[in-house]
Amino acid sequence: MVRTSAFLPLLTSAAGYFSQAEAVKPESKILQGNYIVEFDDTADSAEFFNHVGSVAKTRMTLNHTLFRGASIQFNDLANAEVQASKVAALGSVKRMWPNKVYYLPRDEVVWTGSVGGQNYIHNVKRQLGNDTFSPHVMTQVDKLRAKGVTGKGVKIGVIDSGTDYTHPALGGGFGPGYLVSYGTDIVGDDYSGDNTPVPDSDPYDGCGGHGTHVAGIIAAQANELGFTGAAPDVTLGSYRVFGCTGGAANDVLIEAYMQAYEAGSDIITASIGGASGWSEDPWAVAVSRIVEAGVPCTVSAGNDGEFGLFYASTASNGKKVTSIASFDNSVTPLLLIESSFAVDAGAEETFGYALGEPSNWADVSLPLWAPSYDITDPATGCEPYPADTPDLSSYVVLIRRGTCTFVEKATNAAEFGAKYVMFYNNARTGAIAAAATDVESIEGVGMVTADQGEAWIARLEAGSEVVVSFDDPLTAPVSLTQQRNDITGGYPSTYTTWNPTFEMDIKPQLASPGGMILSTWPVVLGSYAVISGTSMACPLVAGIYALVANVRKTFDPFTIESLLSATANPQLLNDGTTTYPVLAPVAQQGAGMVRAYDAAFATTLLSKSSLAFNDTDYFVDTTNFTITNLGDEDVTFELGSVGAAAAYTFSGDIYPDFFPGLELTEEFATVELSRTKVTVPAGGEETISVTVTPPELDGSRLPVYSGYITLNGTNGDSLSLPYNGAVGSLNSVQVLDIGYLSFTTDPQLTPITGSNASFVLPAPGTATDEDTIPVVVSLLAFGSPQVHYKLVRVGGDNSTDEVLGDIFGSPLTYLSRDRYYLFWDGSMPDGSYAPAGTYKFSIEALHVYGDARDPAQYDVDETIPFTVRYAAQT
Ligand SMILES: *[C@@H]1O[C@H](CO)[C@@H](O)[C@H](O)[C@H]1NC(C)=O
Ligand SMILES: *[C@@H]1O[C@H](CO)[C@@H](O)[C@H](O)[C@H]1NC(C)=O
Ligand SMILES: *[C@@H]1O[C@H](CO)[C@@H](O)[C@H](O)[C@H]1NC(C)=O
Ligand SMILES: *[C@@H]1O[C@H](CO)[C@@H](O)[C@H](O)[C@H]1NC(C)=O
Ligand SMILES: *[C@@H]1O[C@H](CO)[C@@H](O)[C@H](O)[C@H]1NC(C)=O
Ligand SMILES: *[C@@H]1O[C@H](CO)[C@@H](O)[C@H](O)[C@H]1NC(C)=O
Ligand SMILES: *[C@@H]1O[C@H](CO)[C@@H](O)[C@H](O)[C@H]1NC(C)=O
Repeated sequence: MVRTSAFLPLLTSAAGYFSQAEAVKPESKILQGNYIVEFDDTADSAEFFNHVGSVAKTRMTLNHTLFRGASIQFNDLANAEVQASKVAALGSVKRMWPNKVYYLPRDEVVWTGSVGGQNYIHNVKRQLGNDTFSPHVMTQVDKLRAKGVTGKGVKIGVIDSGTDYTHPALGGGFGPGYLVSYGTDIVGDDYSGDNTPVPDSDPYDGCGGHGTHVAGIIAAQANELGFTGAAPDVTLGSYRVFGCTGGAANDVLIEAYMQAYEAGSDIITASIGGASGWSEDPWAVAVSRIVEAGVPCTVSAGNDGEFGLFYASTASNGKKVTSIASFDNSVTPLLLIESSFAVDAGAEETFGYALGEPSNWADVSLPLWAPSYDITDPATGCEPYPADTPDLSSYVVLIRRGTCTFVEKATNAAEFGAKYVMFYNNARTGAIAAAATDVESIEGVGMVTADQGEAWIARLEAGSEVVVSFDDPLTAPVSLTQQRNDITGGYPSTYTTWNPTFEMDIKPQLASPGGMILSTWPVVLGSYAVISGTSMACPLVAGIYALVANVRKTFDPFTIESLLSATANPQLLNDGTTTYPVLAPVAQQGAGMVRAYDAAFATTLLSKSSLAFNDTDYFVDTTNFTITNLGDEDVTFELGSVGAAAAYTFSGDIYPDFFPGLELTEEFATVELSRTKVTVPAGGEETISVTVTPPELDGSRLPVYSGYITLNGTNGDSLSLPYNGAVGSLNSVQVLDIGYLSFTTDPQLTPITGSNASFVLPAPGTATDEDTIPVVVSLLAFGSPQVHYKLVRVGGDNSTDEVLGDIFGSPLTYLSRDRYYLFWDGSMPDGSYAPAGTYKFSIEALHVYGDARDPAQYDVDETIPFTVRYAAQT
C-alpha cells in the first residue's frame, strides 16, 4: 500500500497544516445518514418503502419518469450502516448515493439599487434605443433582436432562489399569462440544506435575490434602466431550491429538475454548483438524463478559478450538460446620483456618487479638503490627522478607500469636526454604498469613482478650490453610466472555474459575459443590481438557446451546443491585470465567447463540440469529426489549428497551483489533419481524421494542453473546434493529503495532537449532535472515486492491529479536492458497539482510474490512536 508521508510532520506543525488546507474549500457538505436511492426500473417500490418504514424517514419521494427513487434519513446513526447496506441490497434498489448539500456560487454583488437611495427609480434618466446592452452586443444577441428574434413561445425552467415576479420588469405576477408562468417552491423559506424541505406553490424570491437577477438576464422586460433580458418573449418556470439561508441538497435539486422537465420546459438552466469533478454525481446524472431526453440544460461552471486546474463543479460536469464559463463585461454599469461641482468658481460640472449612510446631503455646498494628495496611498486617512489640521466642519472631506474601515476613516475626520465625507474608490470598479453610521458629527457619506476622485485631487494639488453641491438625494436625478473596462473586459473572468473533470471530460463548453452584469433584483432589496459570476453568464446562454431555437426550429441539445461551440470566439488569456498574447486554455474558456447570430444562421454543423485526447495512460492519438453542409451550395473549407496556453497542474506541492500564479507555457500540441482543404457538397458531409502529438512537457507536473481546430469556409463561416488533453498519468497523482482525528464539538475540526486522545462516548445508541465524539477527517489534494474510513483495533505490545472494517457512511464516493469527514459514535461495522479500548482510523483513498480491488491503488493514512469508554446508561 502507498503510504503518504505528510502525516507525521504535520502533527507537529498546525500552522503548516492550515496553510496547506487553504487549498481545500469545504463547499459541499455530506448529510450524515442521509441517502438518495434510485429504484430499479421495473421493480415495485413498495418493497423499499416497507423495508425502510421502521428504520428511516422518507425525506422526499422522487417519483419521476427519468428518476424513480427517494431520499431517506436513517433514524439511528448507530446501526444505520447495517441498515444502509441492507437497503442497498434490496432488489428494488438500483443505486444509492450519500446526499450532499450545495451552495449558491460566491457571486460578487457589486452594487444593488439601494445605492441610489429610496425611490431612486423615479429619478433614473432613461436610456432607450436599440439593443445596446453590452452583454448583448458582445454575444451578437443585439443582431438577433434587431431581426425580431425574441424567444417567443419558448419555456425556460430556472432552478434558483425563486423569482420576484412582482417586479414590473419581470411581469408583475405569477401564473398563466405572466412572464413567470409556471414553477413552484420546492423548499420553503426556512429550508437551509440540512433540514427537511417544506414545499409550497409560490416561488417568490423576497430574501435571496440571485434567482431574480438570473430571471432578468434571460427575460427582463423594458424598464427604467433601459435594458432587457436576452429573450424577453420567453415564459419562465421558477423552481425555488434555496430557503433564505444555506444551501440546497441533491434530492431537492433532482426534484426541481424533474418537475421543470415534466412541466414541459424547452430549456432548463441553473446557476448552482459545488466542487465535484465527477459526472457520476447523482445530480449530474439526473441532469444528463434530461439532456438525453432532448431538453438542453445549461449550468454555470463555478466561481472557483483561484483553485486552479481540475476543480470542475457539478452539475455542470455532467455528461452532455452544457457548462458555462464567464467573461468580463466590456463595461462596468454604475448607478450614481447626479450632483455638481465647480472649480475656482467656474462653470458647474456634473458628477455622480453612490449614496452612503448617513445620507443627509440635501443642499450641502462646500469645498473639498483632502488629508492626502497621494492617489496611490493604500491607507489614506487611517491614522489620526496632524494637530495642524483645519476645522473640517466647513468642508467635504475627500478620502481614498482602502486598508481600514469607512468608520475608522470617518472617525479620524470627525476628530476635526467633519460632517461630510466623500470617499473615492481605490479600484476601477465603480463606487459602492459606504456606511459610517454612528460616527459623531458625520451627517453625509458617499463614494465617487476612482477617476472622479483622482481628477479632484489633481485640482486640489494644483491649488484650486473645488466646491461640491448636492440636491436632495431622494429627488436628484440618478444616472446609469457605463465605465469602460479596458483591463479585463472581453476576456475570461479570473474567477471562472478551471476544469477538466477528473476523467478528462472537456468542460466548460461555452462562455458569455458574467462579470459586472446589470439585471433585476427583488423590489424590496432595491429592484436592480450589478453582480459578477458564472451565475450571470449561464442564464444569458440559456436565453441565447431560446433565440437560436426560434431561428433553427429545433431544441436538440447537441445541435445547439455544437453550433454555439463551433461559432464561438476564443479569447486571449488575462490574469486580472495583464492580457497575454496567447489563447486562454480550453479548461478555462471552453469554446470561447458565444456568437448567437452566427450560430443561429450557420449552415455548417460539426459532429462534435470538442475533442478529448485524455491523459498519457489513456491517450487517444487519433480521432475524427464530420463536417455537414446544411446549405444549398458547395463549400470549401481551409482547415488548420491554433494552440492555447498549456497549464501545469502542479509545481511541487501535492495540491494544484492557484490562478493567477499557475505556470503557463506556449508549448503546443502538434495537430495533424487528414485534409487541410476539403469541399463539402451542398447537403453532404465529409469526415476529417485528427492525429495529435502532445507537447513534450514534464508529465509529473500534469500539464493540460489544448487548442482549436479552425475551419474557414468559402461561405464565410469561420469555425473552431476545441481540443484538450493532459501529459502525464492521472492514475499516479497522489489524492490523499492527510487523514487525522478531530472531535465533533470543534467547529474548525482541528487535528487532535499528542499521543493519547481519549473519549467518553454516550451510552450506545444515545449519541446526539451535542456530544463530543471522534471525527475522522480526510484532506484530499486531488479527486478520488472512493474513500474508505476504516476502524482499526490497536493491538497491545504483543499483538498486531486489527482492521475491523468501514465505519458508518464509508466509503464516500466521487469526491473532489476538499475536506471530508465522518463522525463515529462507537458503532461497529456489524451494528454492535466497539468495546472500550484503543482504536485508530485508517483512511484509504482510491486513485483516479484506479481498480478498487487493488490495494496498491490506494493512498493510505492513519489517525493517532485514541481510547474510548462509554458513559453509563441513564
Ligand atoms: C408514482 O407515480 C405513479 C404515477 O403517477 C403513481 O402511480 C405511483 O403511485 C407513485 N408512487 C409513489 C410511491 O408515490
Ligand atoms: C435602431 O436600429 C434601426 C435599424 O438598424 C435604425 O434604423 C435606427 O436608427 C436605430 N435607432 C437608434 C435609436 O439607434
Ligand atoms: C479517459 O480514459 C478513461 C479510462 O478509459 C475513461 O474512463 C475516461 O472516460 C476517458 N475520458 C474521456 C474524456 O474520454
Ligand atoms: C471515426 O472514429 C470512430 C471512432 O471514434 C470510428 O469508429 C470511425 O471508423 C472513424 N471514422 C472514420 C471515417 O475514420
Ligand atoms: C481562418 O481565418 C482566420 C481569420 O481570418 C485566420 O487567422 C486563420 O489563419 C484562418 N485559418 C485557416 C486554416 O486558413
Ligand atoms: C496522556 O493523557 C494523560 C491523562 O489525560 C495526560 O496527563 C498526559 O499528558 C497525556 N500524554 C500525552 C503525551 O499527551
Ligand atoms: C509481551 O511479551 C513479552 C515477552 O513474551 C512479555 O515479557 C511481556 O510481558 C508481554 N507484554 C504484554 C503487555 O503482554
